[in-house]
Amino acid sequence: MSSVSDVTDAVAAASLADASGSGASPPPSSAIADGGEQVVTPWDVAGGADGKIDYAKLVTDFGCSTITPELIARVERVTGVRAHPFLRRGMFFAHRELDQILDAYERGEKFYLYTGRGPSSEALHLGHLIPFHFTRWLQEAFKVPLVIQLTDDEKFLWKSMTLEDARRLARENAKDIVACGFDPRRTFIFSDVNYMCTPFYLNTLKIAKCVTFNQARGIFGFTGESNIGQIGFPPTQAAPAFPDCFPHMFGLDKKSLRCLIPCAIDQDPYFRMTRDAAPRIGGHKPALVESRFFPALKGESGKMSASDPTSAIYVTDTPKQIKDKVNKYAFSGGRLTVEEHRERGGDLDVDISWKWLNFFEEDDAKLAEIGEAYASGRMLSGEIKQKLVECLVPMVAEHQARRARATDAVVDRFFSTAPRDFESMFGDLEGDWMDEPNGGGAAGAVSFQGSENAVATNAPETKKKGGGGDEKSVAAEGEAPLSKNALKKLAKEKEIAEKKAKKAAEAAAKKEKAAAASE
Ligand code: TYM
Repeated sequence: MSSVSDVTDAVAAASLADASGSGASPPPSSAIADGGEQVVTPWDVAGGADGKIDYAKLVTDFGCSTITPELIARVERVTGVRAHPFLRRGMFFAHRELDQILDAYERGEKFYLYTGRGPSSEALHLGHLIPFHFTRWLQEAFKVPLVIQLTDDEKFLWKSMTLEDARRLARENAKDIVACGFDPRRTFIFSDVNYMCTPFYLNTLKIAKCVTFNQARGIFGFTGESNIGQIGFPPTQAAPAFPDCFPHMFGLDKKSLRCLIPCAIDQDPYFRMTRDAAPRIGGHKPALVESRFFPALKGESGKMSASDPTSAIYVTDTPKQIKDKVNKYAFSGGRLTVEEHRERGGDLDVDISWKWLNFFEEDDAKLAEIGEAYASGRMLSGEIKQKLVECLVPMVAEHQARRARATDAVVDRFFSTAPRDFESMFGDLEGDWMDEPNGGGAAGAVSFQGSENAVATNAPETKKKGGGGDEKSVAAEGEAPLSKNALKKLAKEKEIAEKKAKKAAEAAAKKEKAAAASE
């Protein structure tokens, strides 16, 4: 069994293991496939007896819903944009309350997107691009802001990796994320370690208080062997689903915006927990749109092996590496002899070139033609591999060119916590930010300390206390909504407490001195 992203993780882990003094705990043992039962957690993915993931079973087990053709048609109607191939072709196949996001959007209510990456490797593999390409499409179709979490803390806790390396990889991975084409005028990228400011931490604490260890064990499979950092981590991934974690983007009102989270279905457990906690902390339940896994090069039922980097293509691969890997390793649905292949045709159900083309060949007509030619036996295995290489080489080259433009100044602009203008992150944006001086780079990112100065302009006002039902449940948790005044009061209280502590220390010192003098 291996994590969906473990092909690259393993390479990174191997090179980092020596440098690490920290022993990461083994994954929760209940996540290890037992008796042919499939396992899908944020850290481990294993197919059932045939090695394949049964997605229909996952939908039932997790309690999410299948995306129907009607829902896709509605997305197109609401946005006026043709659905992305990942949606049309069923790669994004499951959701939670996407329909409610559409209802709200049609009523003129705003929402934001939230996705993320656990920075465990130098380079992303093509599977990692799936949620980011789709998120970019969602952002452009709905014209909404986006926050991207880099869980350097998560990877430190789960991998044999130093915190310094996790933080460095977060910045490196951010360049690949920027290369997916996001617009910094409505995108904020943050590392947990760097951004853990007061509003973010307040939400993390409130969520943590809603979840017992028994519940966490049930959702994530923690055991007595899990380190306590792992057990405490899930609220950190949950919190960004609430807009008041980002005052410089969205202001201080927890209900100002709904949140939609695109991800692969392995992340669902985090957000099941988040949705349970949401009403108890006075927030909207986040909605989700979830994808299948992009299969490993060596075949869907073959593992994305931790010790086998040939089972993936990385965004750093050269055209030659791509060609060689596809030709040598892409699992083929071709028949044993040319005669048999011509007679029976290729097996589309298992052929990885065909499956990968379904993800990345954007031209529907061309894709259909390839599928027909291959299934009928007119196209041979080597030929469909050639089609895949022709599709991947320019795509990866374009990614690399965009990444080269993601300079440190550009990355800083995405990391910047300078207050935004709330309204201007929605709707059409003028021109291309890359045409701005310095490639749109930021001149000095603002560091956020939970200060009121960092609140977005034109953000929705915080609702008055004592109004709705949710606020009652917040009160039941012994929490107050985080208003501007509450923040001010907190700062004042802190100041008074510090003064008191100083006075007490001075008095104690005086007393001690007097006692010493009288001895
Ligand atoms: P990570 O780094 O494992 O994966 C990043 C994103 O890529 C998806 N993914 C895949 N999608 C399709 N096919 C694959 N083979 C494949 N492998 C990975 C993951 O589902 C994820 O969406 N804890 C998270 C980081 C995170 C996050 C989030 C993800 C923090 N907040 C919010 C999604 C939404 C992680 O380690 O992802």
